[in-house]
Amino acid sequence: MDHSNYVIDEMISAKTIAARVESLAAEISEYFKGTDKLVVVGLLRGSFVFIADLVRELDLPVEVDFLEASSYGNATESSREVRILKDLRGEIENRDILVVEDIIDTGHTMTHVLHLLKSRNPARLKVCALLDKPSRREAEVTADWTGFEIPDEFVVGYGIDYAQRNRNLPYIGSVRFIK
Ligand code: IMP
Ligand code: MG
Repeated sequence: MDHSNYVIDEMISAKTIAARVESLAAEISEYFKGTDKLVVVGLLRGSFVFIADLVRELDLPVEVDFLEASSYGNATESSREVRILKDLRGEIENRDILVVEDIIDTGHTMTHVLHLLKSRNPARLKVCALLDKPSRREAEVTADWTGFEIPDEFVVGYGIDYAQRNRNLPYIGSVRFIK
């Protein structure tokens, strides 16, 4: 596989992300104050860095679980078909659920995941997305907490990949293809 035909321009620094994660966690802690039944559900794989930082800033007792929905494969265009590749380990009936996602793009993934989780009768069902590309939306869905709204650019880093690479970048960068 040829990985040499693009460069990454920093869009959001590690420091800016850390500050935003801290303030998101404060808002979420306030909202769920007093709960003893919160499950933070990370959508694999893109949310793994974000969820790790976010839960460590939450001032709440939490359980962590993961769900994997099918994604882009190695292409940059979303498929409208969403499948569950790995389901939650735990039951969520009557639990408070916070779904943690890397990016809401067309909105198809989140719409599908919320539909599935809702059918299991959680108490509260909320969404925190690190990034939002509102200009790309096809399915009507909004996060309850959003880290950053970004333009229609393909981004990587802080857990987010291009063809499985660059998840380990500490910042978020936009991919610029070159000849
Ligand atoms: P949606 O179903 O179109 O909202 O797609 C959401 C998923 O597509 C995200 O969880 C990401 O995994 C992936 N995705 C969307 N935009 C990007 C991007 O700019 N870079 C990498 N992955 C992306
Ligand atoms: Mg994803």
